[in-house]
Amino acid sequence: MNNYSKRIQQLPPYPFAELDKKKKALQAQGKDLIDLSIGDPDIPTPRPIVECMQQAVAKAEHHRYPPYAGTVKFREGVARWYMKRFGVQLDPQHEVLALIGSKEGIANAHYAFVDPGDIVLVPTPGYPVYTNATKFALGLPYLMPLHKSHHFLPDLNLIPENIAHKAKMMHLNYPNNPTGAVADPGFFQQAVSFAKQSNVIVCHDAPYTELYFDGHKQPSFLQTPGAKEVGVEFHSLSKTFNMTGWRLGFAVGNADIIRGLATIKMNIDSGQFTAVQEAGIFALDHEEELTPTIRHTYQDRRDVFVEALKKLGFKIDAPKATFYLWMEVPAGQTSATFATHLLDHCEIVATPGTAFGDAGEGFIRFSLTAPKERLLEAAERIKKLQ
Ligand SMILES: Cc1ncc(COP(=O)(O)O)c(C=O)c1O
Repeated sequence: MNNYSKRIQQLPPYPFAELDKKKKALQAQGKDLIDLSIGDPDIPTPRPIVECMQQAVAKAEHHRYPPYAGTVKFREGVARWYMKRFGVQLDPQHEVLALIGSKEGIANAHYAFVDPGDIVLVPTPGYPVYTNATKFALGLPYLMPLHKSHHFLPDLNLIPENIAHKAKMMHLNYPNNPTGAVADPGFFQQAVSFAKQSNVIVCHDAPYTELYFDGHKQPSFLQTPGAKEVGVEFHSLSKTFNMTGWRLGFAVGNADIIRGLATIKMNIDSGQFTAVQEAGIFALDHEEELTPTIRHTYQDRRDVFVEALKKLGFKIDAPKATFYLWMEVPAGQTSATFATHLLDHCEIVATPGTAFGDAGEGFIRFSLTAPKERLLEAAERIKKLQ
């Protein structure tokens, strides 16, 4: 049977099928793989959030369909947290929308704003959903390269005027996956000016704002003057509270954009389980108590692994945020050959930079989602090979 829609058929073939096959074969042989390839926290959700959920799940009033946009209580909780954390005022009724994880919100936004042939500005390397969801909506991705020499920020001045004018939407993501780069308020200001000039919607994807290191809090795009006129920000409880499996996120910002996204969602899903939203309110209300331990754990892992890799002669900078290390592959290797080499000879799974687009060539991404001892063991294995 091959009756798949053109949407599915036009997706590029999965480029790492071979690598994946090898990984599965090694796992089946019982090999002790160190998997640093996925951005899925290995640490459980904090106990108090789980306990809040246990109580919430027992309540009969939570067993019915939830409100489409999220409960009023959840949206108020989000607004409360945004004010406390970023000093940004949000109207819970019109400027906050609950999501079943931020991924679905990012993807569905295309159906609300992109018509066939419309251009969407997409950073590369980048989270693959931006490109693939653009294609699903029959839009045309225009790739904005993120270069190390430009601090992995897109150079908005390089976007040709005719493209900028035809563009409907622009994706940005800071702190960034996969590069670990952060944006400063000056860049966000530039993005707002660009968006106003070109009448482009900014979708800022911000699931990593709370995974910052060395005490340097990372900003919200909505702190930028004028940001709410042009854009929305996607947030997630996945990484902030080790809740990837719970599927809870939210979109905040421009009321018209929120309404558009809510209209699409209302027609294809029925909202997130109210008990999960209750646990989410608890998490956000206790963010200041719950996140320092999580941050310290990743910072400690970052310091240990970056130091070990540097000692081995690799070119790597410690990220200021996110749990990703974006490392240049050794001379003579490509992203794919180096990833294969690590898997074959060290039984380490890492993601080749090209998994995030061609512009990721020359890099490899390690996710710090394994205990410190395992990261040190990974460094030992690489050392033995040298
Ligand atoms: C940049 C980025 N955006 C969005 C997401 C989606 O997160 P979730 O759907 O779990 O909220 C991820 C997950 O890895 C991500 O890295």
